[in-house]
Amino acid sequence: MKLIVQPASAPLSGAVRPPGDKSISHRAALLGGLARGSTRIEGFLPADDTLATLNAMAELGAAVSRNGDRVEIEGRSLKAPGHALDLGNSGTGIRLLTGALAGHPDLFGCRITLVGDESLSRRPMGRVIEPLERMGARIDSRDGCCPLLVQPRPLVAHEHRLKIASAQVKSAILLAGLHAEGETGLFEPAPSRDHTERLLPAFGVRPVLHAGRIAITGPASLRGTRVCVPGDLSSAAFLVAAALLVKGSMVEIGPVGTNPTRDGFLRVIDRMAPGRVARQTVAGDAGAEPVASLAVQGAGALHGLEVPAEWVPPAIDEFPLLMALAATARGTTVIRGAAELRVKESDRLAVMCRQLRRLGVRLEECPDGAEIIGGPIHGGVVDAEGDHRIAMSLAVLALVADAPVTIENAQWIRTSYPGFADDLKALGAILEWQ
Ligand code: S3P
Repeated sequence: MKLIVQPASAPLSGAVRPPGDKSISHRAALLGGLARGSTRIEGFLPADDTLATLNAMAELGAAVSRNGDRVEIEGRSLKAPGHALDLGNSGTGIRLLTGALAGHPDLFGCRITLVGDESLSRRPMGRVIEPLERMGARIDSRDGCCPLLVQPRPLVAHEHRLKIASAQVKSAILLAGLHAEGETGLFEPAPSRDHTERLLPAFGVRPVLHAGRIAITGPASLRGTRVCVPGDLSSAAFLVAAALLVKGSMVEIGPVGTNPTRDGFLRVIDRMAPGRVARQTVAGDAGAEPVASLAVQGAGALHGLEVPAEWVPPAIDEFPLLMALAATARGTTVIRGAAELRVKESDRLAVMCRQLRRLGVRLEECPDGAEIIGGPIHGGVVDAEGDHRIAMSLAVLALVADAPVTIENAQWIRTSYPGFADDLKALGAILEWQ
């Protein structure tokens, strides 16, 4: 499907409540399905990715019912489904589930196949398979990619030193550690999002964090609980960026989670448009997750910057959007140390550079980043190339183009933010699906 976006002719205004956090929704569904007893999730993200994880837990034996963003899960003894589990487009779903199943005692002797769509089938799975194998797991793959065949068996604890800052790898190890005999420990090269560590205590298991080491002692069993999922900062970021770009806009977005391992976008934005986004902490019910509302004042002109390397992990999902903002900013924006972008839902560095060029942007791509020279944005036709965040980043940028922008293959937006176009319209933007 195509999304056609008109240049904004008036400031954006209004208030939007973004949907539930994708990362936390995945984890709540997974932990709820693994736990004994009932788990109630409020604010669950009903999007393709998270529904794939919820569905996988149901197919593994959990009793699941859902009404909009409210989910009830009754954890039961797991059983192997008679068919492959399809995680769709979701890297988080497949990697975390692989860790959770690798040593699950209910499934010893079973064979479980995990598959995904074309994009997921190209993404590297060796990064979870290798550490899990060091704990004794048996996982077969097709050259390090899915389909994955997991044959659950007893695991032993292991000390891991991760080479990449990846919350998916870290979480897969911690979930496997629940079933491993002894203390599983890990060090990451830089802090990645810590939602798993924050959520586990609500399910009765407390990871130990000390001097950069994260440890979990197994075997440990989870008990059901209530989880309130905060709004997704990564989805909110598109609306924040839209409001910032359109001069004179006054928009309130929230409440959203502002976990410091996820808020790199807000840090970058504060350099690109100082003082234009005000965070107001909300006393929330989101357990261990900090929550805030964001008041945005349209800036019109943004400033380019050199993105500090330590801001890359906490802003990792927002780089397509930051690249779009950089294309409009005064000066040059330099991004380095972001090679991980090449193994997301698409090769986000290559795809963004390719699509931005189609709108007249001057830039240079390099192996681990890009240099983008801000300037005028032209209208035209671009292609989201199967990536939800590329589609939404280009839609936001289109608001300041000199003519309409048609975004082809934009339907992937439904994997993380099905209501994106409606929310942007609610703020006054003009766009339509075709
Ligand atoms: C996620 C971790 C990140 C992020 C992804 C969600 C998670 O991936 O890009 O969208 O929920 O754990 P990596 O672990 O590969 O960095």
